[in-house]
Amino acid sequence: MARIYDRLYPAEPKLDSMIEFLVGLCPPGGRVLELGVGTGRVAVPLAACGIRVSGIDLDPDMLAVMKSKPGGDAVEAVQGDFTTDVVGHDFDLVVLAMNTLFAVPTQDAQCAALTRVAEQLADTGRLVLEHFDPNVLYRRQNPLMTMRALSATSVLYFTTSADFAKQGISAEFAVHDEHGVHTASESGRYIWPSELDVLARLAGLRLVERHGGWERQPVPDEPVVLVSVYAKG
Ligand SMILES: C[S@@+](CC[C@H](N)C(=O)[O-])C[C@H]1O[C@@H](n2cnc3c(N)ncnc32)[C@H](O)[C@@H]1O
Repeated sequence: MARIYDRLYPAEPKLDSMIEFLVGLCPPGGRVLELGVGTGRVAVPLAACGIRVSGIDLDPDMLAVMKSKPGGDAVEAVQGDFTTDVVGHDFDLVVLAMNTLFAVPTQDAQCAALTRVAEQLADTGRLVLEHFDPNVLYRRQNPLMTMRALSATSVLYFTTSADFAKQGISAEFAVHDEHGVHTASESGRYIWPSELDVLARLAGLRLVERHGGWERQPVPDEPVVLVSVYAKG
């Protein structure tokens, strides 16, 4: 994914709302940990706001892309598995953006990740999760193929497939550009919002806010993106 990730998810207005939301939850001088920090799409602009940001990711290539960006060195980068590894303690904010908890393949490991979050949060800290509502998968074709122009000379073909019996979700990406075809794939397990709240309870976290987007929109009848905030206790 590292070679194509930033082309798939370029900075967009939603990112500004997201950064504003996260900065608003972080006290002055606070510390943030992003799980699955990737190429630093979120962590780098967050660090540019004067916040101390640490990020963990399994993929050294994603971390290398982050480090190569202007401001990327401001983020403490740790290569590791957020379901098992602890980066530090007393973080004011832990962030799981872009459905990253769904990249974890089993319910047990997803719960373990939330338990690691509770261990690393300050008592007054918050976990912020961005996650899609799985109902969207039931309202559309399966598998679903989407095509999008990334630039005047490159096209993204993107196929998502759901395995409803296993709550499995997988995605295949192919970017065609002047240099050829670059492919990547992802898979994981989607989580229902009510299930997420129970997994969080098992990990010692409780839901304090849920929104239909980063601008704190109310959750609509047919949500696509959800932003959930959990506290310890
Ligand atoms: C969808 S990307 C999100 C990247 C970034 N958070 C963003 O919002 O752009 C998910 C990232 O999580 C990482 N990841 C997935 N499972 C992980 C795990 N168990 N431990 C650490 N990183 C993981 C992947 O390598 C990938 O970089």
